[in-house]
Formats: sequence, C-alpha cells, structure tokens
Amino acid sequence: MKLLFIILFLFVVDIYFYTGTVSTVTKFFNNPIIYKLVYWFLSIAVYLVIIYISITYIRTTPSIRLNNNVIFTSLIGVLFISKLIGSIPLIIDDILRLFKVITSLFNTNYSIHDVKRLDFLKKSALLFSGVLFSTLLIGMKWGRYNFKKNYQDIFINDWPVALNNYKIIHISDLHLGSFNDVDKFNEAIEMINAENADLVVFTGDLVNNYHEEAIPYIDSLKKIKSKDGKLSILGNHDYCDYVMLKRDSQEWKTNFNKLLELEKEVGFDLLLNESRVISKGENKFNIVGVENWGAGNFNKDGDLDAAMNIVDDSLPTILLSHDPSHWKEVVLKSDYDIDLQLSGHTHGMQFGIEVPGFKWSPVKFRYKEWAGLYENVGKQIYVNRGLGHLGYAGRVGIMPDISVLNIMSKI
Ligand SMILES: [Fe+2]
Ligand SMILES: [Fe+2]
Repeated sequence: MKLLFIILFLFVVDIYFYTGTVSTVTKFFNNPIIYKLVYWFLSIAVYLVIIYISITYIRTTPSIRLNNNVIFTSLIGVLFISKLIGSIPLIIDDILRLFKVITSLFNTNYSIHDVKRLDFLKKSALLFSGVLFSTLLIGMKWGRYNFKKNYQDIFINDWPVALNNYKIIHISDLHLGSFNDVDKFNEAIEMINAENADLVVFTGDLVNNYHEEAIPYIDSLKKIKSKDGKLSILGNHDYCDYVMLKRDSQEWKTNFNKLLELEKEVGFDLLLNESRVISKGENKFNIVGVENWGAGNFNKDGDLDAAMNIVDDSLPTILLSHDPSHWKEVVLKSDYDIDLQLSGHTHGMQFGIEVPGFKWSPVKFRYKEWAGLYENVGKQIYVNRGLGHLGYAGRVGIMPDISVLNIMSKI
C-alpha cells in the first residue's frame, strides 16, 4: 500500500513536470517524440527499480556483502528531487494563472484563452532541475569519498598547560552499511593515522541498522591508531530501531549485543553512559560518553546523570554525545561542568556550501549547531560533518569529515 502511494506520488510529480516543460523542450528538437520517450522511459525505469528494491530490501540489507542498492536509490532520489525542485517555478506559474483565470471571469476584455504559461518560468523549471540534477550527480562521483581534514583549535578553561596541543581525531557517522568501498575506507584510515593523534573519538552511527554492515570493515577499523586510546559512543542508527524490530525481541537483542562485541573487537572503548579519565603523568582530563539522546522522536537512551556519576569535576571534561540537540536540551540546562561536547549526526545534510569564513546548509534550519565549533555561556560544542553517508550516496559542498582538534588551555 505504501509502495503504491509512493509510485502514485512520483507519477503525479512526473506528469506535472512533463506537461509543464514539454513545449519548451520540444522547441529544441524537431521531433517532440524524443523527449516524450526519454522522459517516460526513465520514469518507468525508476518505478520498476523502486518496486524491485522494495521487494528485495529485507534480503539484502542485513548483509555482509557490500550493497549497491544505495547507488540505485540515490540515483532515483536525485532524479526525483530535481523534478520536485524544478516544479517550484511551475507551481508559481500555476498560481499566477489561477489569478488570471479569476480576473478573466470578471473582466470581459480579458479572455480565458490568454492565460498561458510564462515562458521564462518554464525555462527556469528546466534550469533548476538541470543544475540540481548535475550537481547531485557530481556529488556522487566526486564528493562521496572526498575526505577532508578539518583543523580546529579549541581553548578550554583549566586545561593543563602541559597538555597544550593535545590532538584529538574526531570522526563520526561512518554508516558502513552504505559506505560500500573498503579501499576508500582504508584511505580515510591512513589519513587518520598520518596525524599520529593523542586520542581518537568516534561519535556514533557505525552502521545504518544491522551489525553485519560493519563486518567487511573490521580489519580497517582495527588499524586506527592513537597514543591514548580509541573511544566511541552509539548513534541513533546503532540501535536497529528503523527496521521494525521490537527492542524486547531476541533478534534485536542479538544484533545489539553483536554490535557491542564488534566495537570491542576493533579496539573501541565504547562508553555507554560512563566515563574515563585520560592521564598523561600528573595531567588528567575526563572523557564522558552517553548513549544516543536526540530531541523530538529520536531515542533517548543517553543518561547524563549516570554518565557523570563518578566524574571528578575538578578536571576538564569532554562529553561525547551523538546528537547535538542533546547539548542545549540537556547538557547546558544541567549543573554539570562540561567544557566541550563532541557530536555528529547532522552530516551537514551532505549538501551545502563551506568555504573559509562561511558555511551554509539547509540542515541549519533543523540543527542550529550543525558543523564546526559553537560556544554558549563559556561552554563549547564541536559538530563533526560525518565521514560516511546515508540516503544520498554523495556529498555536495560539505565533504566527508576527519576533524583534527587541537586542544589548548585558555589561560
Ligand atoms: Fe548519521
Ligand atoms: Fe545519527
């Protein structure tokens, strides 16, 4: 039923975009049948691929094989989003035409037959969808694995001067179920290891749903090196909550336990509402890690009180929490003295603009803290843009992120 509704919705958008643009496109071709054939061949192919993927989804997702469905679904998404955004000028045009029709009813000098589509709006529709379509395709080809190191100095009160220039590699959102390339993943690991970091932290979303997705990457994850350890937390996707499994079912429990075992096997010290003290001689700081806590409908397994239970608050404290909404909703409202939160989750929507001194992404309307460093009443949060991808198998503007954090004393 859901599938039928999706196909019907795609068909309505297809008809709307086609009827709105066909006359402009056929001006460029003497034979209007070409556009008709190409357009509908592609559209029907999309419907068939959606039906195929829906039927085989259950069998292919919890798999240790790499999964090319992500490419097909992305191509479908790119085609559809381009048509949808391209339809905006057509909708504006239709609203204008509606006003003209209403006017013609009261004005005898104005005939209803004069109400035609505006040529420039039809051209805008084609331009919008064409530019978006090519940009998103370029993002799949050249953005998807275009790993970028983002260097950030972070100043913390009471940070031991002896630990100035302490280097933390912060990675997040590997989404290994859609990463789909072990060699490219190894390239990212080499970039991480080249930094010779003091500490590596991973802030969750190892997989999309099932622990099996991470199996092809076990050897690569084991290779991640750091002087003082590798710490991790869980993200909302690590709980297998998006595949209709009940949390009290045996299947859910088995998957979750295997994911925890896998994190251990690859050398991550997974923090489940708990803390560690990192010591370098006399100098120490706290690393606290909560389970996922997200505002709105996201799961709220994160328990800050439990995680802070035995924390010595005379030491500087860094909190790992997957979802940045946790910061303003819980962390800043609490009495805990948490100097810095490290988060991920937003992926920078894998789409936006980022140049020195300026960054923008539509995701900022959902998450105020969505990429980089933010400060509020002396507390700070750093949000990683994610190393993997989910949904759209590409990146435009906001590249896969390896954050290199240089921690220094404020005094
Ligand atoms: Fe994620
Ligand atoms: Fe997430």
